[in-house]
Amino acid sequence: MTRKLLIDTDTASDDAVALIMALREPEVDVVAITVVSGNVPVDLGVRNALYTVELCGAATPVFRGSEAPLLRPIYHSWAFHGRDGLGNMNYPAPASEPAPGDAVDALIDAVRANPGITLVTLGPLTNVALALQRAPEIAQRVERCVVMGGVACTVGNITPAAEFNIWCDPDAARAVFHSGMPVEMVGWELSRFAAALDPDDIARIRALGTPLADFALDCNRITLEAHERLTGARALDLPDPVAMAVALEPEICTRRRSHYVDVETESDLTRGMVVIDALDSGDQADDWPEGGPLISRTTKIGVCWRIDAAAFKRRLVSALS
Ligand code: RIB
Ligand code: CA
Repeated sequence: MTRKLLIDTDTASDDAVALIMALREPEVDVVAITVVSGNVPVDLGVRNALYTVELCGAATPVFRGSEAPLLRPIYHSWAFHGRDGLGNMNYPAPASEPAPGDAVDALIDAVRANPGITLVTLGPLTNVALALQRAPEIAQRVERCVVMGGVACTVGNITPAAEFNIWCDPDAARAVFHSGMPVEMVGWELSRFAAALDPDDIARIRALGTPLADFALDCNRITLEAHERLTGARALDLPDPVAMAVALEPEICTRRRSHYVDVETESDLTRGMVVIDALDSGDQADDWPEGGPLISRTTKIGVCWRIDAAAFKRRLVSALS
């Protein structure tokens, strides 16, 4: 049976590879791509999404969404993706235009028309939060909402406390995480270490000799340099493709638990931190004598703690072959 997907993205280089994975998946129908400001300005994100759709020979509609976070100033991660979001490769302009209408309306319409759809979010959650504000009932019509975002009790990439997508629009993230939407959080840490493409992986992908393989590596050349500068590891982390792999093949997440979570929206120091009740003390709260652990019983979401890195890489190579 064909699975329906809607992808919300701030289309830069790793997003583009995630789009390719979905667009090239035989059993998946990507009903729409909605673009949000994040890595790059929304119009550049639209351009990069259209270019990627054309590269895959697809005709998926791309909708222009939020130009800025709900409350925070606009911030773009140029240093991680380049001034064009695609490794400064200066690819030609796409031939196609964005679909008419607003991305938030398109997201609501897509969920209403496809109950049981899977949402995959690859950027800040501004569009999704606005959609939930306008149509709260969509939270119950989505089967899965796989979110590339946050880090599960470990160091972040935009600050020590936070991962970029959640940090960029923490108010939107908090609203989405507390909406009752069936969120599955796939944190940045899962794209590091064993899941990051090492020089051998990169050589293997380059040896595929396909336009998609060359595109995936070329447009992520700045990301590779940035990841090495940030972490010291000579490897390419691809967080959006990891989240997309989990969306397409849930078994790739080998350890998933539901926990109470909350998102820091007050502090500058820990803005965008996803605070996870990893010990599930919230479940034990009634069992403790006075003075037990303090945890706010908010809403539980699914957190992916571990992935099968080899399976992720197999899926990635297959999509680029
Ligand atoms: O922190 C990684 C996330 O931020 C990825 O989605 C990447 O594309 C950037 O948006
Ligand atoms: Ca992204």
